Amino acid sequence: MSITTQSAEKPLLQGQDWSGAMGEKWNHWHERFEAMLAPIGAATLTLAACKQGERVLDIGCGAGATTFALAKQVGAGGQVLGLDISSALVQTAATRARQQGVTNANFLCGDAATIKLSEGGYDCLFSRFGVMFFADPFAAFRNLRLMLREGARVVFCCWGPPPENPWVSSLSAVVSRHISLPPPDPLAPGPFAFADQVRTRSILEQAGFEGITFTPWHGRQVLGGPGLDLDAVVNFAEKAFFVGDVLEGKPEHLRQQVLADVRGFLRDRQTADGVELDAMAWLVSASCSGKSSA
Ligand SMILES: C[S@@+](CC[C@H](N)C(=O)[O-])C[C@H]1O[C@@H](n2cnc3c(N)ncnc32)[C@H](O)[C@@H]1O
Repeated sequence: MSITTQSAEKPLLQGQDWSGAMGEKWNHWHERFEAMLAPIGAATLTLAACKQGERVLDIGCGAGATTFALAKQVGAGGQVLGLDISSALVQTAATRARQQGVTNANFLCGDAATIKLSEGGYDCLFSRFGVMFFADPFAAFRNLRLMLREGARVVFCCWGPPPENPWVSSLSAVVSRHISLPPPDPLAPGPFAFADQVRTRSILEQAGFEGITFTPWHGRQVLGGPGLDLDAVVNFAEKAFFVGDVLEGKPEHLRQQVLADVRGFLRDRQTADGVELDAMAWLVSASCSGKSSA
């Protein structure tokens, strides 16, 4: 096999425009992304254990799957607000809420780092993989802290280090046999920006949170969700995942080489459920029992 190495312009999965193109892409593929993330989402919802009557903020709510689950947990006497920076995703979430008859969830388009909501109005801040994309996570968490009452809690999941997430790192290694990928900046906004416990703890502590715990989640990511055949998974990897981003503007012969290699890699990981790869996430929880330092 001939290998041609070309360079990609920016590190993988960083510098994504969630308020624009990236939000629209996630919106288009939301059912598949939600199916992929469902097991980790379920573990995070269990950890949050929201009670009847609580008011919950779902940060980076996407197309609303976790907002609906939280709405069920808090019951008719509770309220959930799904906040997302992508107007396309907020519209989809609101439409689905109407279709599903969810009456205790509302959706708002805005940036978690700067949005102003009623101070002390919430009992719980929840997020499934929505907090790692803030340009300034220290400022964003200080802002979010203001919206929580004393005694409230924060519960979210975020990805662990890349080597423990071959569903991204091994796949990117396959692509980088052909296209050299600039090394990612571990501090830049992106899926792995909260992988380092020390830094994440510092972000939360500086925002005034206490009792911070990290629970590792180890499992498998089924690419594109369960039940897809190999063609559908390769299509998902190209169009929804990062492979297509890297291939943008590259010559056709190179595109074909990369996709053939990606296909071989995915075929070797096929199971009865789909294409499965190891994954690791942190389930993070904290509380605000002290006065906000914001
Ligand atoms: C990986 S997706 C997760 C979506 C959803 N939580 C789920 O699990 O299906 C990250 C989400 O965070 C949102 N997001 C990114 N930056 C944000 C910000 N600064 N404020 C609010 N939402 C943001 C994105 O638009 C996107 O919907």
